[in-house]
Amino acid sequence: MIDINRYGFSPVGDNRGFGMSAEFPAEYSTKELSKRTWSDFEKLFLKQGVVGDGWWCWCMHHHVSSYSLPENQQPRTRAERAVRNHRQKAELVEKGCAHGILVYAKGEPVGWCQYGPREELPRVDNTQNYRRLALEGGTERLWRITCFVVDKQHRRRGVASVALKAALEAIRKKGGGLVEAYPVSKTDQGSNYMYCGTVKMFEKVGFKTIAPLSTGRTATVVMRRPI
Ligand SMILES: CC(C)(COP(=O)(O)OP(=O)(O)OC[C@H]1O[C@@H](n2cnc3c(N)ncnc32)[C@H](O)[C@@H]1OP(=O)(O)O)[C@@H](O)C(=O)NCCC(=O)NCCS
Repeated sequence: MIDINRYGFSPVGDNRGFGMSAEFPAEYSTKELSKRTWSDFEKLFLKQGVVGDGWWCWCMHHHVSSYSLPENQQPRTRAERAVRNHRQKAELVEKGCAHGILVYAKGEPVGWCQYGPREELPRVDNTQNYRRLALEGGTERLWRITCFVVDKQHRRRGVASVALKAALEAIRKKGGGLVEAYPVSKTDQGSNYMYCGTVKMFEKVGFKTIAPLSTGRTATVVMRRPI
């Protein structure tokens, strides 16, 4: 169980560095998701059994504004959802409406971090917990970092952290703004429930906790940092 045991409520700092070297461990390299790298993304997510819930979710959850809309009704089984989410993700990539970082080890895709502007990842806007916070958005462009997937055989070696640093660099190159994330501060439910990363991972790259988001066996917080 991780228990970060602190809700800092600190104001967002103005340190614009990532607080760590931009260099990655030599064994890992990164690429942006694009039409060219789509087949690598597929290869990673088709590794059923070693990519957590990624095999059926395809990181579509945060793209969906509201599950109440008739067009967003979910198929009953995970296998059916896998087919639909796979297709929808492919369509978003084709249109340039899905962003993320793939991490490679010896040319093989082993990890993933999803990021994007608020409009591309609107799910959290329509949750009661988030709305209740009525967070000030400021005037800066709002970005989100929502999901991680790491091949089981490559976990606990810093792959997710490599992906996070690369995502921040990609956001900076796209003009930057305010970056928001919803990592886990406490869980006893295992690594599938840590798909949005951990508070410590984000603290290490300069994020501050703004407010608690969800409570229960898996607790999450809202964290932010400007870039
Ligand atoms: C959560 C996950 C992304 C972490 O990836 P990772 O590459 O192992 O993470 P890192 O090695 O970069 O570690 C990041 C931090 O998280 C911690 N961490 C990673 N896995 C952990 C676990 N199972 N329990 C507690 N802490 C953990 C690490 O200790 C590290 O903290 P530290 O910097 O203080 O040491 C990975 O376990 C995963 O892919 N889980 C499945 C997620 C999923 O289902 N995604 C699908 C969403 S649709």
